[in-house]
Amino acid sequence: MASSKSKGRVSLDERFYLSADDFFPANAGLGLTYDDVSLATRYSEVLPRMTRLDSALSDSLPLSLPIVSSDMDTVTEHRMAIAMALNGGLGLLHYNMSEAEQVAEVRRVKNHIHGMIGDPAVVSADDTIAQVLARIERDGLAFSTFPVTSSDGTLLGLLPGSTVKERHGQRKVAAVMIPRDKVFTVAEKDLGKDPIATADRKFSEHVGQNKLLVVDAKNKLRGLFTLSDIERISEESRAHVRPTRDADFRLRVGVAISVPRTADGEIDRARLLAHVSALIDEGADALAISTAHGHTKGVGDALRLLRKAHKGITLIAGNVTSGEGVEFLAAAGADTVKIGQGPGSICTTRIVAGVGIPQLTALYVASRAAAKKGVRILADGGITKSGDIVKALTLADAVILGGLLAGSREAPGKLMEINGKTYKEYRGMGSHEAMRKGSAARYGHSASGKFSKVAAEGIEALKEVSGTVDQVLGTLAGGVQSGLGYLGAANLAEHRKRARYIRVTPAGQREAAPHDVIEIKAGS
Ligand code: XMP
Repeated sequence: MASSKSKGRVSLDERFYLSADDFFPANAGLGLTYDDVSLATRYSEVLPRMTRLDSALSDSLPLSLPIVSSDMDTVTEHRMAIAMALNGGLGLLHYNMSEAEQVAEVRRVKNHIHGMIGDPAVVSADDTIAQVLARIERDGLAFSTFPVTSSDGTLLGLLPGSTVKERHGQRKVAAVMIPRDKVFTVAEKDLGKDPIATADRKFSEHVGQNKLLVVDAKNKLRGLFTLSDIERISEESRAHVRPTRDADFRLRVGVAISVPRTADGEIDRARLLAHVSALIDEGADALAISTAHGHTKGVGDALRLLRKAHKGITLIAGNVTSGEGVEFLAAAGADTVKIGQGPGSICTTRIVAGVGIPQLTALYVASRAAAKKGVRILADGGITKSGDIVKALTLADAVILGGLLAGSREAPGKLMEINGKTYKEYRGMGSHEAMRKGSAARYGHSASGKFSKVAAEGIEALKEVSGTVDQVLGTLAGGVQSGLGYLGAANLAEHRKRARYIRVTPAGQREAAPHDVIEIKAGS
């Protein structure tokens, strides 16, 4: 059975399952998105677990997982950014906060030492064991071993869990603690570039120890490693997750920039440049100018200003859905262009303003313009399952997720319980509430305007809580690896080459989801 071209004739497969450059032009004039299209499977010698998902946002910003968390105030603050970078992706911090707070958020990511508990619960030498027991009960603590410190944070000893018993209730911590000179410690300066490896080695060298305390040059407690955390992390790193780190082994982070304006509407250059310098001094690895309409003079001017001031920084800009938009942002200095206008799960831009292009068609057009200009593209919005990511990555360098991450433990916001289920808030940056907090400029409105008179382009919603970012990304990455395996692609470059598309009818879409059964357990 011939499965490819034979003697100059076009095979059946080639007539039905078209490459991107045949498929999309043949569907010119039609807006296609993820569910409108399916990918054909190809001969494969590739097992999903053998596939690599390495990509990059610029020549200096490689990712081992091509997933970026959205710069939305219900998605990315430092906890999300840390979790994204630890999984090989990147977090984009939102800008609905003060400039000083944004700089502090960058610092929190850059200073994060994976596996080290930076502010461990401590007890004082004067406490009684009864007081310690009461605190364990009150705070619901799952452990009973505590560093003992003085009021200025100096390490005095370690209270072992074996002494925290009712029978010793009247004794003082000072009387039963392990004294400072016998406590298992490491100096902060000796943690080196890979603190996990250092802690792992120390635990191996000292049999029976399960808490390693980190102290500075003045014997102040700086943190604590537990043996169980280090074992879990070492196990995970053997599972080939490569965190996104800079040359100094710090986690990488991106930051969305709000472009300040003077009273007469001009870019406030001094303020913008001062803020960006503060972010870069703190170690920011990428800056994103995120607006609903990136093909505008304002975004072009801001990009040129940043590019001139900071030649080496990765600049992300958007959003656009046209080839001309990509070329415009590339010419103004962008390394990466965000593609997506109105596909997001909380977006109403298409309904309110009547504009926007379905994602796959927009990505095709953008990808061809990007290739011409030597820039990369991000598929931003509308991704609801791993199969969408598989399709997006046939055209884009990475994807941006909002809704899929908004229910995770690391997303900002409190948990809400409704009818026995737990939810987190998720809202569009163009919703009234988010614009009131500062994102109005993103949608071309004045931050001081009356929002009841401004048309919102996003909604406020809830997402059911979905576990940790590790769990969510683990499931998504597994799905993407399966996709590559089906196409016989060992990496994303091969994936792009081997992708063959076919349109799906509404009946085909119904066939693609579970049907004609009563579902008792969801598959994802
Ligand atoms: P998902 O589908 O992942 O989309 O939830 C997240 C992306 O949606 C964009 N975004 C908006 N688009 N109105 C819009 O039209 C909004 O209020 C809004 N807020 C976010 C943004 O690109 C994000 O990454």
